[in-house]
Formats: sequence, C-alpha cells, structure tokens
Amino acid sequence: MALIAAGAVLALCCGGGAVAAVVAWTGADLDTTGKVDFRNALAVPPLAESRVDGEGRRVFDLRAQEGRTDLGQGRPTRTWGFNGDHLGPTLRAKRGERVLVNVVNGLAEPTSVHWHGMHLPARMDGGPHQEVRPGATWSPTWTVDQPAATLWYHPHPHGQTARHVQRGLAGMFILDDEPTRKLALPHDYGTDDIPVIVQDRSFDGDGQIEDGGGTGDTVLVNGTVAPYLDVRTERVRLRLLNASAARTYSFGLSDGRRFTLIGTDGGLLPAPHDMSRIRLSPGERAEIIVAFRPDERVTLRSYPADLDNPVTDRFGGGRDTLDVLQLRTESNLAPSPAVPAALAPIERLDPGEAVKTREFTLSGRQINGKKMDMSRIDAVVTKDTTEVWEITKEDGTAHSFHVHDVQFQVLSVGGAPPPAELSGWKDTVLLAPNETVKIIARFADYADPDVPYMYHCHVLKHEDAGMMGQFVVVEPGQKAGRPATHGDHESHG
Ligand code: C2O
Ligand code: CU
Repeated sequence: MALIAAGAVLALCCGGGAVAAVVAWTGADLDTTGKVDFRNALAVPPLAESRVDGEGRRVFDLRAQEGRTDLGQGRPTRTWGFNGDHLGPTLRAKRGERVLVNVVNGLAEPTSVHWHGMHLPARMDGGPHQEVRPGATWSPTWTVDQPAATLWYHPHPHGQTARHVQRGLAGMFILDDEPTRKLALPHDYGTDDIPVIVQDRSFDGDGQIEDGGGTGDTVLVNGTVAPYLDVRTERVRLRLLNASAARTYSFGLSDGRRFTLIGTDGGLLPAPHDMSRIRLSPGERAEIIVAFRPDERVTLRSYPADLDNPVTDRFGGGRDTLDVLQLRTESNLAPSPAVPAALAPIERLDPGEAVKTREFTLSGRQINGKKMDMSRIDAVVTKDTTEVWEITKEDGTAHSFHVHDVQFQVLSVGGAPPPAELSGWKDTVLLAPNETVKIIARFADYADPDVPYMYHCHVLKHEDAGMMGQFVVVEPGQKAGRPATHGDHESHG
C-alpha cells in the first residue's frame, strides 16, 4: 500500500467514523509527496465509437452500468461506468456536426447524463428534468456549434449527483473545429494529447467507495491508482479535468518547471500563457502543454490550493499536497512543434450591451436564500440577449459556480481584471470569500419556456443539498412556463 498520512493509514484498518475522528483529532493535512509508487500505467479512456445515421447525425451509444474495478484495495471495488466498469469513453465531435447520443440506463435507479459545457437546447441538457428510468433510453440530439474545447459528461439526477459521479459515471467530451485543427498543437489522442481526469476517492474497510461527496485520500487519474505516463514526445498536451466531487486542486510540476496554459473550460485562449500553477475547482478544465527532455521523471502534483481559512481549508483538503501522475520520458523523444504564439481569437462580450445584471449570493446550501426547487423558475432570460451575473459567496466554504448552456467570460474578480486562467471561455468558476465575481454571457439560439437550465455550485454535495437554481431562456416577450416536476421522471429518495 502506498498510503499516506496518519488518517489515511488508519483508513485501511478502521471504519469510516473512526477515521473521521482521527483526522479531526490529528488535524493532519494530507501530504503524499514521494509516497505514491506510480506502479500503474495510466489508462486512457477509449474514444467512443460512433456511426453516421441516414440523417447525417453522428450517433453514440452510452450505457450506464454497474461494474467492478481494481482500485488497489486488494479486492474488487464496486464501480459504475458507461459502456464498461468505470468511467466512460471519450466522446469526440466536430463543430457543425449533429450528434445523437443513445443513453441507456442499465442501473437499478434513475440517473441522467449532462453535457457539461455544451451549448444546446434545454431538453437535451441532461439535468435533473431529464432523468432516465432504469431500463429506459434517452436520445438527445443537437448540433455542435461552439469552439473546440475539452468538455465532459456526468449524471445530474436530483439530489444524487455526488453519489453517481463518485461511483464512476463521468467521461470527457472533446470538441474539434477547423481553425484548431490547423494549429501546431499536440493532437494525437493518447500519445501527445492526453485526457487527465482527476478524481479523489476514499474507501471503506471493505474496499468500497465512500460516496458521500467528501474529499478523498486517494487520487485517481482516468480511474488509475498511482498512475504513470510514458512520454514519447518533446511536448505533451494535458487536458486536465477536475471531476472530483469536492476537492479543488492547484496543479504544478514537482521540479517547479513552468507549463503553458492554452485553453480553459470552453476553448483555447487567444494566446498561450506561461505559468507554474493552475487551480481547478470541481468541474473546471484546463489544457496545458508541458515540455520535456529525455530520461526524466517529473510528477504532476497538486499543491495547497489556499481556498479560504485554516479551518475549512483543512476539511476541504485545501492545504493538502498530492502526487497525481508521474511523467516518465523516454531516451528518444519525437520532436514537437513550438506552441503557436496565437491560438483562438475571443471576441469580448461588452457589458454595455447587457440587458440585465443579476446578483447571486451563495451561502450555506442556498443561492439567494433559497434551496433548489424543481418547480420554481428562478430567472427568466430572453433569447439572444447578454446578461451580467454578479456572484458572491458569503460563507467560509469553497464553492464553484457553474452555469449550464453557456460559456461565459469573467469580467472581474473582486473588482480586479481576471487573471490569465480566467480570461478565456469558462463555464465554472471558483469563488473566493466575499469577493464578487462578475461574469457576462450571451444566451443565444435556444428558447424553451418550460424546460430550465441549471446554475449551481459544482461541489456536488452542495448541489445535492440544494445549492442550485433554474433559469429558462424565452423568446422576446414570452413568459416562463411551468417545469414538469413529477410524472415525467421517477422520484426517489
Ligand atoms: Cu457539471 Cu450542472 O454540472
Ligand atoms: Cu458549494
């Protein structure tokens, strides 16, 4: 066993309650620096097979199912996966393509599949209003019309998202476009263009996943425990996805080398940006390029994320240091082109054109003093308009704010212009305490008065506990309808 700090070692021999007490007692922050043995080759999720149907749609099949996986517990761990035992294949589509996904629920309870970061009609979104009953098939279809990006998919059943994601239902959804295809960026999937789905897990005394939505003491990348990657090229693009339920990471490289940030949640930046740390809260992504020399071993590590205050940082894992993925280079590295100086232009949205400014305050498990109500529409947005949203959190817990349907731009953080990593397209943003984050978004193309999109905290147990609201996009002059709450999906508890 490769583990770790006092609390975690005890986790191997005691029940969960005892461990919680021990961790509280020692107050130990996790530090796995140098303690992970990197014995397993990193799994790379397969690219999902697809076919083009008679109507020209690219068709994927995803089946949520139960499985068993070796997660280093000395016995199989019960997991959930799409088309397999754990996690899911990487979906990939080009801008302009119409896609159709047949989502089959092979589980014994309702679930849903949400396309995180995708611009699409609300009834295709896969949120809590599109739950799929056991044995049923749900087949959303939409036209991909947004820049090349690293998106992802995961369940979103009402009140149950943390459990479904922690059991292993998550996958990447990569979008391509023509301008990006022409850029000299690493793009050979699994060779120099690597999905890096980072999740933390804790296990009970039977080697089973603790799925209560908390932080874990074991880091998995693409479902692999103690992973290493053989690097064969001078530069590698890592598509970092924080698919963890609660943990915020601050990624860097163990020898302090800098890397190049090329993209964020919704696509490439206008220009590459050199940095040594990138902080990702749950749901966020970053594409980085790391340069290597032959015969090296360097570790992708998560450094203390400095979230809030000493108390909440401790329990949110904000002071932990975690070895994530070892990068091992071969003696001969294939040449890689230099990172292009210009990536993808981003047209700045103009606050002067915003028709409305809305305020959202996150506190406790509520937004604007209310818990999520499936039958309540919290905001009505007019199609093809631009809005500014001002988001503030007023408690001492880490929250990250996610908006469905759109990619937004950050206007300011605590009144200051956003740093480079928040200057591109975003769909999720970490909130600092008592600092207002102002974002701007254009709600284009799709209107439906009856089916809402969600905005919520992407700390999944917060979301499940009610830190979520609903907005509809309507045609000019149209009123919000009434979302169906029962009858079109199973309720469960
Ligand atoms: Cu990644 Cu509403 O979710
Ligand atoms: Cu939260």
